[in-house]
Amino acid sequence: MARIAAPRGTADILPDDARRWQALENAMRDVFARYGYGEIRTPIFEHTELFARGIGEDTDVVEKEMYTFEDRGERSLTLRPEGTAGAVRAYLERRLDTEPQPVKLWYAGPMFRYERPQAGRARQFHQLGAECIGTMDPAADAEIIAMAASLFRRIGLADYELHLNSIGCPQCRPAYVRKLREALEPVRDSLCKSCQDRFERNTLRVLDCKRESCRAATQDAPSILDSLCEECADHFATVRRYLDELGIEYVINPRLVRGLDYYTKTVFEFLSPVLGAQDALGGGGRYDGLVETLGGPPTPAVGFAAGMERILLAAEGTLRGEAAALDAYVATLGDAGRRVGVVLAERLRRAGLRAELDYMGRSLKAQMRQANRLGAKTVLIIGDDEAKAGTVQLRDMESGDERTVGVDEAVHVLQEKRGEK
Ligand code: HAM
Repeated sequence: MARIAAPRGTADILPDDARRWQALENAMRDVFARYGYGEIRTPIFEHTELFARGIGEDTDVVEKEMYTFEDRGERSLTLRPEGTAGAVRAYLERRLDTEPQPVKLWYAGPMFRYERPQAGRARQFHQLGAECIGTMDPAADAEIIAMAASLFRRIGLADYELHLNSIGCPQCRPAYVRKLREALEPVRDSLCKSCQDRFERNTLRVLDCKRESCRAATQDAPSILDSLCEECADHFATVRRYLDELGIEYVINPRLVRGLDYYTKTVFEFLSPVLGAQDALGGGGRYDGLVETLGGPPTPAVGFAAGMERILLAAEGTLRGEAAALDAYVATLGDAGRRVGVVLAERLRRAGLRAELDYMGRSLKAQMRQANRLGAKTVLIIGDDEAKAGTVQLRDMESGDERTVGVDEAVHVLQEKRGEK
């Protein structure tokens, strides 16, 4: 029968790879806990309306990248393309707004975007992210950025640039957008097709186009940083001051506008030179209007998310998964030896040891080779004689020493050896 392949843009994470994922997840849990963030797990699918309203109808994500379907009850549902909208929905629905503020949440898991797959871009990918909801303190912006930098440092990922910008607020942004439209009007026809479209509906996004010709055409566009209102300018200056005091290097990039519509004030992105075209390791910013857009009271917030696949790629040389060493391989010979061996392996595992045995009817010699391949530190050999005597032959694979001991003693020796590490 014909085989069925995995859908385009998805990946299988096999055990060897999964060890690196686990190393990243362990580092992430530890770092997030140090900063006082608690884990939230929200559904993989939500009402389509949540993303349409939250992320913005005029964004690429909502317009053309969502996995939207109707369920059997004719509700429109969407596989989550990101984690912020779901976290904010839960914050409101579960009344986290009644707890002491800010509420600090982190999450990690699969996200879905119907994009053209390429290196660093998938249709099912994974994000780790954090949201600090309920404070407008610029120190919270700095904390989120410092926390991401801390995670990168922790896994040895040092080769990246942090780009920083402020895109203002509903008070000052409209005036800037008008100014930008005026400035771009004369070069409008030289913009790419999607920028011409953006020009109409989401003018800021024109600044974000990666095409050389669009970059050139918009090179002299006014900087949003010159149009910030006093509050946004103060906020930005304070975020910068904190980052300076924390020793976190950044590049001011007035063209950085981000692809989702909920941002206000601070926006940032971590860019890695080793990732090629899809160079954003992660990004985020402040979204002071989102809670209200989703039906809550005015509530400021700031957060970030990073692509886990991209982090793993960028940390290729430094983040290693630990291959767990096998404490014991139980090699058996003959029916009686086999019966004792099966029970002994289980006993070792219950005692907290890693033990393995053969399931392929291998000869003793082949079992020894297998033990070697698996990196077993000790092999316990049980033939019919040992089974009858209640003993095992214990071979230390490093020294090659071999001796006969009672079963209880073998368990004890292995536990001691484990403890020495
Ligand atoms: P975003 O910039 O859309 O932000 O995504 C964050 C990161 O997810 C990207 O920088 C990238 O590393 C990764 N990513 C996005 N799309 C893909 C893809 N198709 N394949 C692989 N990786 C991808 C957000 O999602 C916001 N929710 C971040 C945020 C949290 N802002 C405030 N709080």
